[in-house]
Amino acid sequence: MKNNISLQRQICLYIIGFTLITAGTLSYFFNKGVTRGMRNEINSRLLSSIAISALIIDSNLHDSIKSRIDEHGGRYKQIKKDLQLIRDSIKNINDVYTMRLGKDGRIRFVVDAEENPDEIAHVDDIYKDASKMLKKNFFTMKGPMVEKDFYTDKWGTWLTAYTPIFDSDGKRYGILAMDIAANSVKQETTRTLLITFLIFACTTIPFCIVAWFFGKGLAAKLKKTIDDLNESEKARDALSHMIVHDLRNPLMAIQGVVGLLQMVRNSLPENIVKTLQQIQGATEEMDNLISSILDISKIESGTMSISPVILNATDLAYGVTEDTKVIYDVAGVSIKFIIKDKNLNIFADKELTRRILKNLLSNSLKFTPEESVVELTLEKQKDNAVFRVNDEGPGISLELRNKIFNKFYQISSREVKKQSGVGLGLAFCRMAAEAMNGEIGVEDRPDSKQGSSFYIKLPLRK
Ligand SMILES: Nc1ncnc2c1ncn2[C@@H]1O[C@H](COP(=O)(O)OP(=O)(O)OP(=O)(O)O)[C@@H](O)[C@H]1O
Ligand SMILES: [Mg+2]
Repeated sequence: MKNNISLQRQICLYIIGFTLITAGTLSYFFNKGVTRGMRNEINSRLLSSIAISALIIDSNLHDSIKSRIDEHGGRYKQIKKDLQLIRDSIKNINDVYTMRLGKDGRIRFVVDAEENPDEIAHVDDIYKDASKMLKKNFFTMKGPMVEKDFYTDKWGTWLTAYTPIFDSDGKRYGILAMDIAANSVKQETTRTLLITFLIFACTTIPFCIVAWFFGKGLAAKLKKTIDDLNESEKARDALSHMIVHDLRNPLMAIQGVVGLLQMVRNSLPENIVKTLQQIQGATEEMDNLISSILDISKIESGTMSISPVILNATDLAYGVTEDTKVIYDVAGVSIKFIIKDKNLNIFADKELTRRILKNLLSNSLKFTPEESVVELTLEKQKDNAVFRVNDEGPGISLELRNKIFNKFYQISSREVKKQSGVGLGLAFCRMAAEAMNGEIGVEDRPDSKQGSSFYIKLPLRK
């Protein structure tokens, strides 16, 4: 139950996380898109307005306004009138003013359309609050530009645009600036943000609820599958236990009786002797199968006793070759032991290593044609001793090279199928090799001949 809840929680968290990220990303881009659209619109309106307005200003008049005293003169009034005309004829414009560079290198006001004496910027007043963008571009500005950010004061939110003003000779004599009311844009942006948030909340909350129930259903199904798998694993273990413990005893009894009868076979009719041999063959096969199952379950459960010691690899391989020779002779296949590197000492369990090699040799015998040669080679490779069994059999295709080491896996091609065995030998070899920090695998033969080359690498020890 506890597992089920944590599984459900995990699935739900994944779905909710995915939903939040997706909805969040979509909302972000939606909001950004709408805001950018509105900004682009107001920017282009402002840019075209200021560009046209700059043409109205008379450069000679503007240039002749030098100090605050000039504010009483007709020239100042004319320019101010022009600026007010610009302000009043364009919708939502708050202020229009001109600036130029003072002798001290600071930005100074020239004419301001403002009439309120408290607000007006006078001729030659320093523009203290000039933005970073204005300061940066004041000397180089070639065309109209708009501030990146809005600014807000007690009268509202504004966006400022600037453009250079030139005289008839193309000489730049100042900068014209205008502020446009951006309240509506600001409000619209906030509204969009709110709508985006609502969409985000409206989509994620139901999604999360659905995710919760969906996760619950999925977790229940997964839990059932896991339970079923555990059940079948338990059943398989029980079966293995039954095979090993309940079958071996009667099997031994049969083998004992067959052994006794074999002792008196001379007095038995020929057909009975033949049947006895068949029974003996079948019981041996069954015994091997039980041994394989027992070995594998021992390694899997960690109860196999592994005692690595320093072994002479040549002696070990030679011993195995000698033991195997008899059955190879009977089958009409030769076995050749080739020592490529001498005096290799490995650190491994003697019995396990012998059984791995015997398994590989018995497989090669099964799958190699009569009158062929199977080689067992021994060489050094970095810090390992490598035993190789090269045969002249059908070989193993690339995609099956890993699978054949799985339990009960046998290649289902016709010529291989007729061979005996249950597909446990290589599974045992891999587990045993790994238990001794070794590695096992199959490759094409190093000499590129037809057949396969099974290898086992075991760590060297001086
Ligand atoms: N030398 C080989 N040449 C060709 N195919 C092989 C060779 N060795 C193994 N195989 C393939 O790999 C399969 C698995 O081998 P494995 O030794 O695990 O099982 P098995 O020999 O069929 O049965 P068991 O070893 O349990 O008696 C074999 O059935 C065979 O299809
Ligand atoms: Mg085998």
